[in-house]
Amino acid sequence: MTTPMRQAALDAMAKAYAPYSQFQVGAAVRGASGKIYNGCNVENVAYPEGTCAEAGAIAAMIMSGETEIAEVYVVAGSPDPVPPCGGCRQKLREFGQGDVVVTMATDSGTEMSMTLAELLPGAFTQSHLEKDA
Ligand code: THU
Repeated sequence: MTTPMRQAALDAMAKAYAPYSQFQVGAAVRGASGKIYNGCNVENVAYPEGTCAEAGAIAAMIMSGETEIAEVYVVAGSPDPVPPCGGCRQKLREFGQGDVVVTMATDSGTEMSMTLAELLPGAFTQSHLEKDA
């Protein structure tokens, strides 16, 4: 079933700039307001400078004035659902609580869901920055 989240992620995947890996990824995050933001991976000839689809979707959400992620959907043209990379797990956890559901999907429709806490157990969070009194 093509939900609004899946459609937003597919729309983003179609715009991916991935000339080096040929691996197009689309991500959608739903903010607490219900609004959906999407992003695609944007690669660079200096490979480490490329950015992931999740980062693009988060940037779009922040630019709209929202800071709370309620749901995540990631899609790629791969045989199996693609999980967010380690860095993106931390980026998503910045704005999403541990119970936020991340649905990973293929372009043909296979889906797999995990929470942010399952994807990033023992996350480094703001509470770890608190100093002793
Ligand atoms: N990529 C994403 O955009 N999100 C992920 O969750 C996994 C990987 C991108 C980065 C790079 O442009 C390409 O996929 C191959 O690693």
